[in-house]
Amino acid sequence: MLRELLFVTFLHLGSCSVDGFQKFGTQIGQAPLLERFFWRTMDFAYPDEGSRKLAMMKGDYVPENALPVGIEIWRNKLFVTIPRWRNGIPATLNYISLDANRGGSPKLTPYPNWAQNKAGACGSAITTAYRIHADVCDRLWVLDTGTIGIGNTTIQACPYTLNVFDLTTDKILRQYRLKAEDINMNTFIANIAVDLGKGGCEDAFAYMSDELGYGLIVYSWEQNKSWRITHSYFMPDPLAGDYNIGGLNFQWGEEGIFGMSLSPISVSGYRTLFFHPLSSRREFAVSTRILRDEKLSQDSYHEFQVLSERGQLGHCTASVMDENGLQFFNLIDQNAVGCWNSALPYAPENHAVIARHDEAMIFPADVKVNRGMLWIMSDRMPVFLLSTLNYSDVNFRVLTVPVRDAIAGTVCESSPWAVLPCCGSNEVRSRGWQRLQVSL
Ligand SMILES: *[C@@H]1O[C@H](CO)[C@@H](O)[C@H](O)[C@H]1NC(C)=O
Ligand SMILES: *[C@@H]1O[C@H](CO)[C@@H](O)[C@H](O)[C@H]1NC(C)=O
Ligand SMILES: *[C@@H]1O[C@H](CO)[C@@H](O)[C@H](O)[C@H]1NC(C)=O
Repeated sequence: MLRELLFVTFLHLGSCSVDGFQKFGTQIGQAPLLERFFWRTMDFAYPDEGSRKLAMMKGDYVPENALPVGIEIWRNKLFVTIPRWRNGIPATLNYISLDANRGGSPKLTPYPNWAQNKAGACGSAITTAYRIHADVCDRLWVLDTGTIGIGNTTIQACPYTLNVFDLTTDKILRQYRLKAEDINMNTFIANIAVDLGKGGCEDAFAYMSDELGYGLIVYSWEQNKSWRITHSYFMPDPLAGDYNIGGLNFQWGEEGIFGMSLSPISVSGYRTLFFHPLSSRREFAVSTRILRDEKLSQDSYHEFQVLSERGQLGHCTASVMDENGLQFFNLIDQNAVGCWNSALPYAPENHAVIARHDEAMIFPADVKVNRGMLWIMSDRMPVFLLSTLNYSDVNFRVLTVPVRDAIAGTVCESSPWAVLPCCGSNEVRSRGWQRLQVSL
């Protein structure tokens, strides 16, 4: 059980200030979890105070309505997305310059500009972005859901459109509208995974998880084509719909496939996609060999694998896997982030909690790894949606910790090849999830 591995305890967050950063002390690792940025409400970098005031007067900017949900890091930019769930969100896709901002509560700069963040400007702007992905080919993958509102207030202002930016020029490289057959009446897509294959930058696929419509939409960059996959593993576990987070009890029973992470390319030449429904404690896996092949993907029920349950407090939002096969996943019931070294079987005894904080990490909504650094965004989302945030308090945070320090002393640090049982020479490099049949 994850909780039994929980030898991580944090000092209280009153905290000292080092180099202008507020620090959280932890007893694990050499470096503490660092609170890089924090906000009571999100603010935007208007050209001047006059235009900011005017936007507030006109209701174009309502500070209390902005909830950040996604982050991504590329070079000196930290991207932050804000869905248009309520009115007064001036920009959904934004960034912070990491050169100009070393801490504090920086204002968000719309990316690539204000005009391309205009709500409902179909084809020329992004209306709502959730999780986004920057690939190693300097492209930013942004799915615009085209929606304004949340739940029963949702208006589909524009069609679901995948936008791919060239981060070096800030120009759009590709715009692709999902086809009518890719979505259904319940579709709600808040996550994207991007799979670069052996063929490099052109050999790219995007996987988009349909959380409420229970599907996975695949987009092939080379073929400029999309298809939808369905599987019962995309559905929520009816026994896992009850949540206790941030002092609230609520039911999100309908939440299906949500977080996804991709393994490194294995000897087979393909990655493995790991995924989990939000209302579930299970992880599932499938080879991208199946997903990438439109025909194969339609008739491969048994190619999808079931992994162990994470344990009672195992609800998970976003997850990510680094180039060494280390997976990090947000444990929203525990105000924590967990890790799994995929050289080991996916089992609770091979999971560890690497960061936990009962105030600073209420609802970790996104997690990323960039150049050996783990980045976590927490946003108290259930309080925002079901109650009211206290805007005198810090509500949103971006926290960082070096991966090496985060996993130090945990099961995730295990040297992959030393712990593998002896096996045939062609299996020597086989990793934990590929030995599932054996380890289950
Ligand atoms: C929309 O949902 C909210 C909360 O779930 C509920 O209180 C409200 O009555 C619903 N409105 C309509 C028009 O269904
Ligand atoms: C991709 O396909 C869409 C139609 O689905 C088309 O409008 C667009 O021009 C195509 N893009 C490229 C780069 O081929
Ligand atoms: C709101 O947050 C502030 C700052 O943390 C705190 O002093 C205050 O007691 C909180 N108010 C409520 C109603 O919880």
